[in-house]
Amino acid sequence: MSDPEKPDLKNGIAVSNIPDGGKLVGTVDGEDVLLIRSRNQFFAVGAYCTHYHGPLVDGLVVNEEVRCPWHHACFSLRTGEALRAPALDSIECWRVEQAGEKIFVKERAAPAAYASTSPAVQPSSVVIIGGGAAGLAAADMFRREGYGGLLTMISADSAPPVDRPNLSKDFLAGAAPADWIPLRPPEWYSERKINLVLNSRAISLDSKQKRIRTEDGKTYEYETLLLATGAEPVKLPLQGSTSSQIFYLRSFSDSQNIIAKTSSAKQVVVVGASFIGLEVAASLRARGVIVHVVAPSRVPMEKILGAQVGAFVRSLHESHGVVFHLGETVSHVDGDMVTLTGGQSIRADFIVLGVGVRPSSGLAEQAGLKMDRGIVVNEFLETSALGVFAAGDAARWPDPYTRERIRVEHWVVAERQGQTAAKNMLGMRQKFEAVPFFWSQHYDVQINYVGHAENWDTIEVDGDIEKRDCSVSYKRDGRTLAVATISRDLKSLAAELEMESSIKRQ
Ligand SMILES: Cc1cc2nc3c(=O)[nH]c(=O)nc-3n(C[C@H](O)[C@H](O)[C@H](O)COP(=O)(O)OP(=O)(O)OC[C@H]3O[C@@H](n4cnc5c(N)ncnc54)[C@H](O)[C@@H]3O)c2cc1C
Ligand code: FES
Repeated sequence: MSDPEKPDLKNGIAVSNIPDGGKLVGTVDGEDVLLIRSRNQFFAVGAYCTHYHGPLVDGLVVNEEVRCPWHHACFSLRTGEALRAPALDSIECWRVEQAGEKIFVKERAAPAAYASTSPAVQPSSVVIIGGGAAGLAAADMFRREGYGGLLTMISADSAPPVDRPNLSKDFLAGAAPADWIPLRPPEWYSERKINLVLNSRAISLDSKQKRIRTEDGKTYEYETLLLATGAEPVKLPLQGSTSSQIFYLRSFSDSQNIIAKTSSAKQVVVVGASFIGLEVAASLRARGVIVHVVAPSRVPMEKILGAQVGAFVRSLHESHGVVFHLGETVSHVDGDMVTLTGGQSIRADFIVLGVGVRPSSGLAEQAGLKMDRGIVVNEFLETSALGVFAAGDAARWPDPYTRERIRVEHWVVAERQGQTAAKNMLGMRQKFEAVPFFWSQHYDVQINYVGHAENWDTIEVDGDIEKRDCSVSYKRDGRTLAVATISRDLKSLAAELEMESSIKRQ
């Protein structure tokens, strides 16, 4: 059925209806199509992002690209290719014809053709350690770039790569079914001849012999290796607790275990008031569970987002019934009673610990790679060992915007690093220069964050945080290091673009 509100683009539309840089959603054979005019050329592409179906009409057009407003994926307007994660699949394109003062959208164009030639470097075998964001995005890129050799992905997880951010959000809240969680179906791996080895932990790396050994005694030879081992939750011993009471959240099965436990739970204690803890709190509230959040900080997320946004996040959760116990932590547990350092006792059916993560870098340390609170990589994501690259939560890289060596725990960064590492493992020598981006979801409020600010001297708020319409800039010595936004997606995209331009100007 065609939408009467949207013009049928096959019947043509007046050029004057779309100013340069303008966008318009119409239909073609009942399908929503986005018509874009950029630098006086017209492009017709799929109207929705292939990541989470974000409306590209609300995104930013940059030359021949469109960027998604929700999580900053980027697509080529000419070919539809997903140029930047988190989208991995291309959008469709249609042929456009101008006749006089009218633009007509014609037939669908052939899908984006990826590398038609083989890469300059064809390693005899590639091994990726880690089946997460960076690992999957790298495997995808190897095949996109036309690498035809042996490709093995070894993962300690029991499940193929999953949409990890969803595990604390819609899936945990009961709003997303389990079949949305795998990033790719099983046949995707077999069709691309990706040898996915699950339940397998790599325990030794011999970077001279170029050999990996896994816990079950198997060995894998590689010519080039990607360490995409991510991070693991910090374990906090709680005096008096039993292992059956304590839950962490990193993997698909962790999230499923919490859901299974929730079915009979009335009240839960969450330890930690940062992203994971608070997203878990929101999701458990959606399931009707009473949630107490215990954390030593006085203001949630203050270290990352500052006191004002932190206070807003607290009031948002309180308005949904979350009870905070800030400035204290758990003293001990006795049966189902959790006693806090302030003396109060709370009954809890179980406890979720979200007290941070540490990089999973034991393998790299054992191999003698250069370390600095994570695996040290250069701008090409190469480690100190020849032919060994690292990407994602485990890697610390030289960030060109802050001019600091940083390590972050962001989904989009991990995927983009995986993609760049794969290209460089095929000899392309691309610097990793993407501006860090993350998002966090609390009920119906999404916070987007671009850049990276570990400390700042000024916070500037434009708009109204309480009204959920704001952009918050974190500055040091007058320079904007990061920008957090609520309901201002275009501002977030513009801030990212400005930081990219600043990198190019350096
Ligand atoms: C519940 C949750 C919600 C999140 N929400 C957001 C969000 O909203 N926005 C955001 O930006 N980020 C979010 N993140 C962070 C984001 O998921 C991570 O930054 C991202 O997954 C990092 O990707 P990675 O590939 O480096 O590591 P991971 O995705 O953690 O993958 C690491 C992989 O390596 C494997 N591995 C580790 N060691 C070994 C070994 N020795 N041998 C074999 N395999 C090994 C692991 O089993 C795993 O498969 C969230 C994280 C979690 C846990
Ligand atoms: S919906 Fe477009 S990037 Fe997520």
